[in-house]
Amino acid sequence: MSLLEVRGLTRSFYGVEALRGVDLDVRERTITGVIGPNGAGKTTLFNCVSGLVPPDTGSVVFAGRDITGWTPDRVTQSGLVRSFQVARGLPQLSVLENLLLYGDRQPGESLSLALLRTPSAMRREEEVRRRALAIAARLNLTRLLNNAAAELSGGQKKLLEIGRALMANPKLILLDEPVAGVNPTLTNEIGAHLRRLVAEGMTVLLIEHHMDTIARLCDPVIVLAEGRRIAEGSFAQVAADEQVQAAYMGRRRWAS
Ligand SMILES: Nc1ncnc2c1ncn2[C@@H]1O[C@H](COP(=O)(O)OP(=O)(O)O)[C@@H](O)[C@H]1O
Ligand SMILES: [Mg+2]
Repeated sequence: MSLLEVRGLTRSFYGVEALRGVDLDVRERTITGVIGPNGAGKTTLFNCVSGLVPPDTGSVVFAGRDITGWTPDRVTQSGLVRSFQVARGLPQLSVLENLLLYGDRQPGESLSLALLRTPSAMRREEEVRRRALAIAARLNLTRLLNNAAAELSGGQKKLLEIGRALMANPKLILLDEPVAGVNPTLTNEIGAHLRRLVAEGMTVLLIEHHMDTIARLCDPVIVLAEGRRIAEGSFAQVAADEQVQAAYMGRRRWAS
């Protein structure tokens, strides 16, 4: 069954067509990869799916609900969470505080209720704290809990970014370049974490330029070029696809 169904998604910026009618499905419990040359529209796709940028036309259906045009908050609360290419969060705060920051609201809970220090609000705070500690433990961040986020290595920041997303209890997690600039050891570790999450029932959609990671983790792999989906299949299939090769070659010629 498809957890995410994107149909006919288009989006232009000042006449530049970043997405030109993208259709794609993300099946439950897969790690689906999105690749494509720079400027292909990958980040715009994530922005439109996660509510950051409204699409011009087309639809996004998540877990059977049409979420097209929903605000990012509402999308998050529905169980679809994204991370960013450049880690967000507050650098001055500790790892634990960064995790707590993103676990303070559950689906259906209003902010005013969360601010009242009623017994149930306090129980809830305790529960969020427990969840933050559990997530830190599973991502091997426990020994860094009291470090400021700014002090983390690039790879550890990526892990924190994943942890932050997990705090929202997502069904689907969108990761924009989760191993870019990360050393090989931590890259493998991040891959193992993602596999484990999927084994436990989660679904992952990720953008990545690091082809080894895509080859090892992702099935299927979707290829975007110039705002269109030009191929989909196993990594071996898309890597052998002439249109895909041409898209990458063409870009390289332009870029150099
Ligand atoms: N907020 C924006 N304003 C103007 N142009 C944008 C914006 N976001 C993306 N674009 C343009 O849309 C195209 C696709 O960009 P993007 O989605 O970032 O591609 P990718 O992530 O595949 O590199 C590019 O030409 C980019 O300059
Ligand atoms: Mg991008």
